[in-house]
Amino acid sequence: MSVRRLAAAEVQPESFTFSKESEKKIAFWMNKYPEDRKASAVIPLLWLAQKQEGWVSEPALREIAARCEMPYIRVYEVATFYTMFNLEPVGQHLIQVCGTTPCWLRGADDLKAVCEKRIGKKGRGSVSADGKFSWEEVECLGACSNAPMVQIANKDGDFYYEDLTAEALERILDDLAAGKPVEMGPVTGRKCSEPTEADVAVLAAAELYDGSRARPLPYLPNTPEAKAAEQSEDPAPVKKGRPARKAADADEAGGAVKSAPRKAAKAADAAKIGTSGPKKVTAKAVEKKTGAKKAPAAKTAAKKPVAKKPAAKKPAPKKDAE
Ligand code: FES
Repeated sequence: MSVRRLAAAEVQPESFTFSKESEKKIAFWMNKYPEDRKASAVIPLLWLAQKQEGWVSEPALREIAARCEMPYIRVYEVATFYTMFNLEPVGQHLIQVCGTTPCWLRGADDLKAVCEKRIGKKGRGSVSADGKFSWEEVECLGACSNAPMVQIANKDGDFYYEDLTAEALERILDDLAAGKPVEMGPVTGRKCSEPTEADVAVLAAAELYDGSRARPLPYLPNTPEAKAAEQSEDPAPVKKGRPARKAADADEAGGAVKSAPRKAAKAADAAKIGTSGPKKVTAKAVEKKTGAKKAPAAKTAAKKPVAKKPAAKKPAPKKDAE
């Protein structure tokens, strides 16, 4: 981003005054903050100045600094930091063409060509001969599903025009130039970002949301039934499901390394779902499965290192009683 500076001195007005309409809004914003925190209203006031004049001039910054009881340089810093503030005069309608990938893929270049042809060079400071328009390219405006789109900012607000084509944008500019009202939103008659293809079925299968695909639970957790099942010798039968877990249990019992907490958690889990825990695999079963005889425990078991006992302290020699 390039350095943002205020407009040249010859462009700056002599003075700035908030309109009556703006004053009402200023009162609203000032009332939102404590008496000694007026600086909190700096952004809303800058925005009001911009909506009133189309841009923020140096006298406007000074007026806002006085209202917010803050140094002028602080207001200057805010205004030059946020790109939403126009630091130079712009056309009555500022066209912001989104040029980010989704809009670009869907024809943003055609929209830029229209703006260039009708308004002139890209940039806020480049105003059309009739003073009605200026345009710039911006990054994603969050309406990608309605790409390509533009935002048009004027005194009435900021409006999105979506699903555009070059011809549609030409029509919008014609209407705005003629002072006609233009309906915002998709120009195709589409509602918001609803599917554009008539035959696209979205969530058409009722089973996707009616709950019929959900696995029935034998009981809810933390209920008396759940507690009874936990304590029961003959727990509730497992309903369908969890085959993967069963296989994992068998594998682990067949020899994988197990940690005590994990075993305990698994046993608790098994009790909750109504199984009696992993099957105990006998040496015979392992032998049958692998064909290898289990070595006697005494031979395979690693010898545990014997901890050395600390040497017993020699009793101190008794002193003969004098
Ligand atoms: S890419 Fe244009 S609105 Fe997101």
